[in-house]
Amino acid sequence: MQQRMLPKHIAIIMDGNGRWAKKRLQPRSFGHKKGVKNIFTICKYAFNLGIEAVTLYALSCENFSRPKEELDGLFDLFRQYFGKDKDKFLEMQVKIQFLGERDILPEDIRKCLTELEHLTAAYTCGILSICINYGAKQELIRAVNIAVERRERQTLQSFHNLLYTKNLPELDFVIRTGGDMRLSNFLLYQLAYAELYFTKKLWPDFSPKELDKALEDFIKRERRFGKTE
Ligand code: FPP
Repeated sequence: MQQRMLPKHIAIIMDGNGRWAKKRLQPRSFGHKKGVKNIFTICKYAFNLGIEAVTLYALSCENFSRPKEELDGLFDLFRQYFGKDKDKFLEMQVKIQFLGERDILPEDIRKCLTELEHLTAAYTCGILSICINYGAKQELIRAVNIAVERRERQTLQSFHNLLYTKNLPELDFVIRTGGDMRLSNFLLYQLAYAELYFTKKLWPDFSPKELDKALEDFIKRERRFGKTE
């Protein structure tokens, strides 16, 4: 695959962990555990291909109304992989950043996020953004409120700088696993000209081969950005 034709920035809605576990008569937490392992597989593969930025939807604002037991399981995964097992992230040598309103998270997890951001701030092999308690509408309202507080009229460029994604290349490709064809409040502003790709594969089954398939599809598309050619 030719690197110059690859997307610079891909975002992934990692859906289907629960169904993957259910098919195996296991609790949903089993699916999420497998889902995290797949994050490492897919991110390593994507960054090695030369993709500059990967943005993952780990937990939406709306996901916070899931049953406490499921949320606790996800928080434990955050504690594990952003805390004691953070080497798995560090070894990718990519800058890691967390997008979303993190005040809602337990303090020990917030500390892990900040520490991982500091530890990886100077890494240059790519940027991995992980969205936690993220919602696109919430992100836009936050940006508007900052602008209002500063009493600033906005241009496209200045508004871009108020978004969580201000340091990322233009979003070119959004992948959603799990079969649903919707965007679920994910990066609604940034995806204005992104190509969208939906697959029935459940996230734990979305292998590097599946990513290749998606990228081949992306490469074939004619991107006109509203122009005629
Ligand atoms: C969607 O599948 C998945 C989520 C809401 C959680 C995704 C989170 C992870 C993969 C773990 C993130 C953890 C780290 C450490 C980065 P679903 O549960 O909605 O599946 P379903 O649609 O089959 O029910």
